[in-house]
Amino acid sequence: MQKKDIYILAIESSCDDTSVAVMRNHFVLSNITASQKIHEQYGGVVPELAGRDHEKNIVPVVSAALKKAGIEAKQLDAVAVTSGPGLMGSLLVGISFAKSLSLALQIPLISVNHMQAHILAHFLEDEKGKKETPRFPFICLTVSGGHTQLVLVKDHFEFEVLGQTIDDAVGEAFDKAAKILGLPYPGGPFIDKYAKEGDRNRFNFAGSRVPKFDFSFSGIKTSFLYFIRDHVKADPLFVENNIKDICASYQEHLISSLLKTTALALESHTTCDLALAGGVSANTRLRERVVQLTDNRKIKAYIPPFEYCTDNAAMIGAGAYIKFLRNEFSPLTLLPDVKMHL
Ligand code: KG4
Ligand code: ZN
Repeated sequence: MQKKDIYILAIESSCDDTSVAVMRNHFVLSNITASQKIHEQYGGVVPELAGRDHEKNIVPVVSAALKKAGIEAKQLDAVAVTSGPGLMGSLLVGISFAKSLSLALQIPLISVNHMQAHILAHFLEDEKGKKETPRFPFICLTVSGGHTQLVLVKDHFEFEVLGQTIDDAVGEAFDKAAKILGLPYPGGPFIDKYAKEGDRNRFNFAGSRVPKFDFSFSGIKTSFLYFIRDHVKADPLFVENNIKDICASYQEHLISSLLKTTALALESHTTCDLALAGGVSANTRLRERVVQLTDNRKIKAYIPPFEYCTDNAAMIGAGAYIKFLRNEFSPLTLLPDVKMHL
């Protein structure tokens, strides 16, 4: 007998992107994201404003996702939502909407952990074709605006955190440096863009020492601030005249410290392939260096397509589909868990 297709509407609203996907099993029928522009002028996400914008966006984005997928609400088998980690006000909008939809359509509610979903994005399929998926166990370097983790992924929902940042996330190190340089928020993509034409060996930054598989990025952020302050004192046009080399050198420093620790983890798990996840995995140079790292070790690198790297609802749908098959549903009393662990 042919297996019935499962249709799930997935919602992601943990930070400043209102994203809705409609899935047929692991296949992404639509994945629509409204990114909030309002935070640019503040140089970072303002939680209060993020919650309000999610409220404005959620209904139109859900309608657009259903329309693009060519699915009617009554065809849905379940509704899935990010329940943490994230901003309380932002999570509440997605969760409240998902609960209402679950109640109105009399379909199950599925809660998904945002950090697990970044990893599970590797199992998505779309119209660009079926990709090879990583084999368990594999090592995943998850790099986003809020997290930097090295995870041993033993199964879809079996994770062992090998190491993580002891202070700031690498995405924050990108964004804070961009802010110091006067670039818009979020600054990671701008540093990536300027770095492409810059000399990555021009400036040096001191590294920080951390135990085994952990990371630290707060020291580099402060030393970058002093580096710019001192150079601008001597030459007020220093940033304008050297932006490409500054971005290339700083980005190379961040990536080298990520990959030094990742290489250590690969040495103690020699048969594991390496996957990349989270918003910073959209970075061109990081993608290039991860491939080099795995080529040298004769293991495979798995890097999601750009649209599934930064926050998106399709990755929530990936986790939700596996939970649906396992009958793992949530009650309508579901609450946000802002500090939810992997
Ligand atoms: O996963 P994500 O969309 O949201 C969180 O869960 O945090 O990650 C956002 C982070 C931001 O810090 C942003 O600057 C960074 O990902 N980012 C990049 C690039 N694209 C996004 N960082 C470096 N290079 C990029 N191309
Ligand atoms: Zn994220």
